Order: sequence, then structure tokens, then C-alpha cells
Amino acid sequence: MKGIILAGGTGSRLHPATLATSKQLLPVFDKPMVYYPLSTLLLAGIRDILLVSTPVDLPRFQALLGTGEDLGISLSYQEQKEPKGIAEVFTLAEKFIDNSPIALILGDNLLYGDGLHSILGQVSSLASEKEGAFIFGYRMQDPSRYGVVDLTKDGLVIAVEEKPIKPLSPYAIPGIYFYDAHATSYAKMLQPSKRGELEITDLHQMYLQKKKLFCQVLPKGFAWLDAGTPSALLEASFFVKTMQERQGLQIGCIEEIAYEKGYITVDALKDRARKYNNSYGKYLFSLV
Ligand code: DAU
Repeated sequence: MKGIILAGGTGSRLHPATLATSKQLLPVFDKPMVYYPLSTLLLAGIRDILLVSTPVDLPRFQALLGTGEDLGISLSYQEQKEPKGIAEVFTLAEKFIDNSPIALILGDNLLYGDGLHSILGQVSSLASEKEGAFIFGYRMQDPSRYGVVDLTKDGLVIAVEEKPIKPLSPYAIPGIYFYDAHATSYAKMLQPSKRGELEITDLHQMYLQKKKLFCQVLPKGFAWLDAGTPSALLEASFFVKTMQERQGLQIGCIEEIAYEKGYITVDALKDRARKYNNSYGKYLFSLV
């Protein structure tokens, strides 16, 4: 399966912090934000990844992440000239997707929790073998700022809605999705919403009408954070700091996942570690 990280947009909720830089390059504690969604895709076993961002920001992502060779993955890059909506990504990336199943993650989403590895692995294999779109549900006190999914007791999807004033359920939809090979052809049929965007929820609606939208509720104790506002960014940083310092384990460490997955050798890991004359470098050496 291939993967896409969507890391464009205006970052307007973070202005002036994002007037001259991309939101997804801002630090979440000790790493650029984009490391977290990238590490999630790596954890899902995805090694062929396209990063989509604005024409201005794309070169900065390329400078940061390069071709991916030193992580044992392939990274390519695609411009989104204007933020016309999340679902525009399927037409922009049509060549890259090449009628294959695809995972999409939003560049400001951070997922962390016990068992994430196996959940992602299962859903990724499902999307490769079975027709449909696969989304997640995350219980929240107030999901109204997000996409929301309503489910039967047996976990079947009844409805999806985008930023509802009165949510049908407490389950928000995190910004990580897995699709069969039909996503691009469906996305081409979408029309802009009232706010002028090609909405990802409208794509999910199409899958739902075909009875091909599946949802897995993330277990209790899971963390899903997005870092789209100043407070959310600070909270995400504190979350990473607290977890890392208490457990002595890194969150979103792309080198660690690449090494554990066998994408890179010990020597390649050591080469990466030597780049850092700080605690991050020491951590990488400690993995050897
Ligand atoms: O974070 C999860 C939520 O993300 C979902 O629950 C919602 O269903 C989904 O619509 C989305 O809601 P947001 O309000 O967070 O979307 P936002 O417009 O902030 O875009 C999310 C990310 O995608 C953000 O990092 C910027 C990037 N983006 C967005 C658009 C519209 C692009 O790169 N290009 C775009 O055209």
C-alpha cells in the first residue's frame, strides 16, 4: 500500500506563527510536526509515500526529508497550488496512486497508543484486500470541530457528518484514512461544499451509500491530537514531552521505526544518529 501525507493549507488558525512557515514544519516539542504522521505511515508498513504541500513550502519539506533513502523508504513530493479541500489530493496524486489502495494522513494529526502498530497493520491489509474506505472513530467529549461518525451497536456506520453543530455521536473521525483502489474515481465526482472545499466527509458519504464505509473505534486510552490551533499545538508538545520524559521512549521517531521495521541497517541508523549532537542522537545510539 502507498501513503499520502497532506501537509498544505494556510495554517490560518496559527497566524502569525505560520505566516512565513508551514504549520506542519513547526515543532511539536522536539520534532517537526510532520514527523508524527510520517511515523504513523511507517508503523503501518507503508514505504512509498507522497507528501503534498504548497508550492512555497514544498522545498522546505524536501530539504528536511529528502528522498527517504536514508530511512529505507521512497518519498516524493506534489504541489497543491491552492487549498481546495482535503479530497482534492486524490486528483492531484492520481499518477502516484496509480489505481492502487491508498492511505491518507493529515500532516497535523498525531496518534499514539498501545496496539497502534497492529491496528494500522490490520486496517491496511483490509483496505488492500477488500473494497471500501476505512476510517477510525475516536470518542470525544465534544467532537463538533471534526468529522463525526455515527455507528450501530455492532459498529456499522450509519452516518458521517462534517463539523456538526449537534453531533449525532461522540465519535470524531481522526485524519487517517485507508481506501481501496476506487478513491480517485469517486473523488473526481465530488462537488465543492458550501465553504468551497472538496470535503473528505463527502467522499466517505459516497462510500457509505455503497455500503462500503467501515469504521474502527480506537480503544480507550489512545491519544489522538491535532495541532491546528495555538492551544492544541502547545498541548501536543506537552503530551510528547511528558510521555517521552517519563518513559524514556520517543514518540514519532522515524529512525527508530525504520530500524525496527528492518528498513535500515544498524550502520544506517548510526549514520543518522551521528548527525545529532544532542539527546536525540543519544537516543538513536541507544537503540543499537
Ligand atoms: O483532524 C481531523 C479532521 O480533519 C477531520 O475530523 C475532519 O473530518 C476533516 O475535514 C479535517 O478537518 P479540519 O478542520 O482539521 O481540516 P483542515 O481544513 O484544518 O485541514 C486538515 C489538514 O489538511 C491541515 O493540516 C491542512 C491540510 N490541508 C487542508 C486543506 C483543506 C491541505 O493540505 N490542503 C487543503 O486543501
